[in-house]
Amino acid sequence: ALESMKDMLNNALKGGYAVGQFNINNLEWTQAILDAAQSEQAPVILGVSEGAAKYMGGFKVVTAIVKALIEESKITVPVAIHLDHGSSFEKCKAAIDAGFTSVMIDASHHPFEENVETTKKVVDYAHAHGVSVEAELGTVGGQEDDVIADGVIYADPKECLELVQRTGIDCLAPALGSVHGPYKGEPKLGFKEMEEICKTISLPLVLHGGTGIPTEQIKKSVSLGTAKINVNTENQIEFTKAVRGILATNDTVYDPRKFIGPGREAIKQTVIGKIREFGSNGKA
Ligand code: G3H
Ligand code: ZN
Repeated sequence: ALESMKDMLNNALKGGYAVGQFNINNLEWTQAILDAAQSEQAPVILGVSEGAAKYMGGFKVVTAIVKALIEESKITVPVAIHLDHGSSFEKCKAAIDAGFTSVMIDASHHPFEENVETTKKVVDYAHAHGVSVEAELGTVGGQEDDVIADGVIYADPKECLELVQRTGIDCLAPALGSVHGPYKGEPKLGFKEMEEICKTISLPLVLHGGTGIPTEQIKKSVSLGTAKINVNTENQIEFTKAVRGILATNDTVYDPRKFIGPGREAIKQTVIGKIREFGSNGKA
């Protein structure tokens, strides 16, 4: 059933596991992730970037696809449709009006006061509609869609507390060394800050850049209060690997279902692996 992230993430924080946010790009991505979550009996968050929503035809197309799949595929696990890295109040409002159950307002690249102001405006609108809100502080490295970061800036624990107190957000993504896309070498996550921030704000933390983080670091993050982990690139890599494998060895195939179908299956298996790693299997 469709719901916000609020209960999902609070349960995860209490239960010592993390819920996966898996980004979608199209129908097959959505099918693969919902099927994986259902077969693992795991709550799941469908992440939708502004770029992906545009690619799919708009926020309303996204919610229509998700709702229809939940019904036709008999998906009974908790599902959130979440705007990933929302760039403005207007975009968050448009997603909420189209039926998204959760939004991230990412005003982290603006000055602190502006981040607080924009985030508060989003929280007021979202909470009036039963929608959960994620905010960000600091800078996640790498690039995702149009979101490009020059370097990694760690979130400041004092600012985290102030942002939470002044806005009433449901969860926070403090940038602590994670990177969108593949890592160059081992990730260096700020575990000390992660622990301190979770203790001071008493809210579920979100880890962006989930692709390429070694299992021990995932487990440690979860033990320190990370209750949501975002994964995008890894599914893109596995989908493309499967499709490329078929196209590279078969010159005559032209039915898209013959190569996109196996790509979809590759995403499903990847998501199942992540759900087990995050410990959210059997938690629906
Ligand atoms: O917001 C989405 C994520 O942070 C995805 O990061 O592409 O490195 O897995 P990733
Ligand atoms: Zn992200």
